[in-house]
Amino acid sequence: MQPSDFFAPASIGEMRVSNRVAMAPLTRARADLEGVQTPLAARYYSQRASAGLIVAEATNISRQGRGYAYTPGVYTDAQVRAWRQVTDAVHDAAGTIVLQLLHTGRISHVSLHEGSRAPVAPSAIQAGGTVLTAAGMLPPSMPRALHADEIPGVIDEYRHAARMAEEAGFDGVEIHMGNCFLLEQFLRDSTNHRDDHYGGSIENRLRLPVEVAQAVAGIWGAGHVGVRLSPVKTTIGETPLDSDPQSTYGRLAERLGALGLAYLHCIEERAPASALGAFDFQSLRRAFDGAYIANGGYDRALAAEAVASGHADMVAFGKAFIGNPDLVDRLREGWPLTEAGPETYYGGSAKGYTDYSRYQAA
Ligand SMILES: Cc1cc2nc3c(=O)[nH]c(=O)nc-3n(C[C@H](O)[C@H](O)[C@H](O)COP(=O)(O)O)c2cc1C
Repeated sequence: MQPSDFFAPASIGEMRVSNRVAMAPLTRARADLEGVQTPLAARYYSQRASAGLIVAEATNISRQGRGYAYTPGVYTDAQVRAWRQVTDAVHDAAGTIVLQLLHTGRISHVSLHEGSRAPVAPSAIQAGGTVLTAAGMLPPSMPRALHADEIPGVIDEYRHAARMAEEAGFDGVEIHMGNCFLLEQFLRDSTNHRDDHYGGSIENRLRLPVEVAQAVAGIWGAGHVGVRLSPVKTTIGETPLDSDPQSTYGRLAERLGALGLAYLHCIEERAPASALGAFDFQSLRRAFDGAYIANGGYDRALAAEAVASGHADMVAFGKAFIGNPDLVDRLREGWPLTEAGPETYYGGSAKGYTDYSRYQAA
């Protein structure tokens, strides 16, 4: 794609977007305990339908994939019916919406699992930090390592969720390979200590992420499937970096690009300088050789510059979309932005969710 105007339409894979502003996936933890969205979600997303592309919040592909209470799923009929209301509302407002597919792996708690079973991970290494449970914030539980013969079942869960997302009326899906969740736990040698086909060498560690991408592309067609990566993020689960992120993620981007996927979406946080020096996101982009969505700390000027210079095809905004449903208009017109309070980020109801209004000049 050619460098162009921030507010001009474009094609991202086989999806048409009306401008280069994407809404980053934002977990808001307002579904019920069965992972079913309430009608408020339809209102929330349709209010933000002027985004060129909405990436709907991380959504559990299976019961085993859950890591946080009150997050939505896309594996039961009731969940799909609720999501259908969301996609209908967004399409009525002329928006484009893809669903982010998530398995949290070790970032989870036994209380979220049937029979209080342990969460699963590449290796039995406990995460730090906390996760949201029905009883409040608790440290993640000790996971158990997936047996090699269980891995086809995990891929089948992604396939099922991908089919359900199609039934729910989405325009595509984004596979979450970032934020230190299951697929990234397989990628990084800090969290993957396996000695079978799914651990050890870079090729082995990226085997599951690539197999999942192939399976999901088999359902949707590659042009409707994006991937999110966060090679230098460590905050979730206090997860250490890979020992050689540039090579590991570079090779992954190349393999994903060869599948012809719609886009690569990167959270471009800076690694601590002492750890690695600067990570070169443009080299990932070149390796992928398809549409690139940049995210992380962008403002109006940086985003417009990123698109104009050809650094990115789209820029995703996260926090700014919470308080500004009309973010695209505000960016276009240079109107001031409303800062949303973090206390209503996760959980609750309409307050801090659907009650932010469009900009009105004084
Ligand atoms: C409340 C909140 C929820 C988030 N939920 C998700 C999520 O579900 N999936 C994901 O990949 N990233 C999630 N993120 C990260 C954002 O998508 C984004 O990468 C981050 O906010 C940085 O972009 P920004 O500087 O434009 O806010 C979340 C961030 C926030 C603040």
